[in-house]
Amino acid sequence: MIETERLTLRPWTEADRAPFVAMMGDPDVGYWLGGALNPQAAGAAFERMRQFWAEHGYGQLAIESKADGALVGRVGLRRQPGAWSHPMSGAVEVGWLLARQAWGHGYATEAAAAALAWGFPTLDVQVIHSWTARSNTRSEAVMRRIGMTRAPHLDFEHPDLAEDHPLRPHVVYLTER
Ligand SMILES: CC(C)(COP(=O)(O)OP(=O)(O)OC[C@H]1O[C@@H](n2cnc3c(N)ncnc32)[C@H](O)[C@@H]1OP(=O)(O)O)[C@@H](O)C(=O)NCCC(=O)NCCS
Repeated sequence: MIETERLTLRPWTEADRAPFVAMMGDPDVGYWLGGALNPQAAGAAFERMRQFWAEHGYGQLAIESKADGALVGRVGLRRQPGAWSHPMSGAVEVGWLLARQAWGHGYATEAAAAALAWGFPTLDVQVIHSWTARSNTRSEAVMRRIGMTRAPHLDFEHPDLAEDHPLRPHVVYLTER
């Protein structure tokens, strides 16, 4: 459990399922993640997130608002599989997502800074990366606000997206311990 000024970052409980499914089904959120998820797919994603925690002892944290106890998003870390056919395979990534109504309050920045500080000792790594579609300027702004450094030599074209897909070009940032 991590406390910040306005937020609690914590493991998931069953009560988070419905707001998580709603958040992942929102087209404004889903656009940046390859499409909104229907309730069944979002429920499966919820299970995978909890399973990842059970297996690895770290992962995505629920972001809860201290003001009203609402689930406002998720933030967390993932060591990408080494065998993954992706330019960032093997890297530790910090990532975030907020429910649409929670955008514009600085919650992602507040949560991401805390997750980054938690990540170095938890995963015992020297570098944590973050990447996003070049057009996802809101996510890139979070990277800058938490002090990550642009790493243009690592920029890549997402291998799972078609050549003309608007989200294919990706930018990469990193932070050293
Ligand atoms: C990426 C994402 C989390 C960014 O959310 P966000 O609300 O823009 O980012 P923050 O929570 O850090 O909020 C920053 C904004 O809150 C404003 N803000 C208001 N009150 C604030 C406060 N008390 N403290 C800090 N910032 C505050 C900032 O000025 C900034 O506004 P701006 O966008 O007009 O410049 C969100 O757009 C999202 O969930 N997108 C879909 C999922 C996604 O793309 N995930 C990343 C995939 S790589």
